Amino acid sequence: MSLWRIKGGSALEGSLTVQGAKNAVLPILAATILKGCETEFTNCPVLRDVEASLNILRYLGCQVERQEDVIRVDSRPMTGCSIPHELMREMRSSVIFLGAVLARCGEARLSMPGGCELGPRPIDLHLNAMEALGGRVRQEGGEIFCSAPVLRGGSIHLEMPSVGATENAMIAACAAKGETVITNAAREPEITALQGFLRTMGADIEGAGTPVIKVHSFAPADRTGYRIMPDRIAAATMLCACACAGGDVELRGIDPCHTESVTENLEAMGAKVERYSRRLRIRCRERLHGGRTVITQPYPGFPTDAQPLMMAASLKASGTTVFVENIFSERYRQAEELKRLGADIRTEGRVAIVTGVERLRGAPVLAEDLRGGASLILAGLGAEGETIVTDRGHVERGYEGLDKALNALGAQVAKYESDTDPR
Ligand code: UD1
Repeated sequence: MSLWRIKGGSALEGSLTVQGAKNAVLPILAATILKGCETEFTNCPVLRDVEASLNILRYLGCQVERQEDVIRVDSRPMTGCSIPHELMREMRSSVIFLGAVLARCGEARLSMPGGCELGPRPIDLHLNAMEALGGRVRQEGGEIFCSAPVLRGGSIHLEMPSVGATENAMIAACAAKGETVITNAAREPEITALQGFLRTMGADIEGAGTPVIKVHSFAPADRTGYRIMPDRIAAATMLCACACAGGDVELRGIDPCHTESVTENLEAMGAKVERYSRRLRIRCRERLHGGRTVITQPYPGFPTDAQPLMMAASLKASGTTVFVENIFSERYRQAEELKRLGADIRTEGRVAIVTGVERLRGAPVLAEDLRGGASLILAGLGAEGETIVTDRGHVERGYEGLDKALNALGAQVAKYESDTDPR
């Protein structure tokens, strides 16, 4: 396991380039197998979830090369159409391969991704989308079998704007004969990035960023390349880190529009934010104040992934901050651990109420999921003394060198491997 030792009390100062987006690169990697094609991606983050995707591609028979931020995938030699449980369980979002494998092979066999640390993770909307395109779906003994010798374009209405189901539907629809219209689609920037990549692969697709996406036709290219967009949740992490520790931080290489709901909340708490075309500056010199209710919603609403980060930012803010988590049912698991640092948090169902305290004190705590783990590290930056976060690999699923990035801004974070849990 990894231990993160954080010595709190240093303000963050300086400038940082934000990593490429995990949630953009994962569906795009899955989409590479839609047709045999050579693809090259730049700005790919080095993350456990990305490695898990590359392992799935290798297992399916693709040739995969990685050099620093560049990933090359040659999906022409792909032969497999099933993904075993060992590879599926490495990453919850591996279900994103369903549409692509089905499109390429006419059949797909995947194990169920299962429930996760955020609560149940149903995939009914993904399966409904495949059925709407003519797929036949069978679930048996924890496995999903899907077959469709020919996919046919159709209408896919998503009961809720699921990001993964929208992506699966977009990818599978590219291989379908005739037009597909996806309604109540997710509008996240990663959907727009996927559309951008699918266009380079030869898809005639429009509407990403709106609730209606239309896939007209597909004339596959042999070779293509794409740059992965910056990670808006990694950016939100650094904004909240500055709010926790205090300081003056510039984030480069990002689209400030993508983090607007987070920056708006931080401004309402007293942070000073300056927006430029590809960068953002945040200054937190005074004690922040709570007040605004943080309600997680599909994009452009406040992202559920940033909720634990914003919770860390609110712990010492004067007054009360209310959180309403609408996307996942078990997303306050960081709260119990934050309380060990002296935080005052009450949770009931989907609501959490944070009453700001004057000071937090470092303590040993446990990371139970990716963003919850990051939230503990951020809280440690603003705590007196030493916080040790025990982490069984969650944080590395989504952050590339978070310790180094924070230290470059003046934080004191040491990450090391250990067999002994200090708690
Ligand atoms: C993606 C992100 C994740 C983020 C989430 C919500 C990736 C790799 N992951 O996850 O970081 O937290 O969006 O912004 O991009 N649902 C169903 N049935 C389904 C699918 C989803 O009921 O078939 C529900 C989920 O349980 C959840 C909600 O829909 O309550 C949103 O989930 P979804 O948007 O699908 O999240 P992911 O795509 O898994």
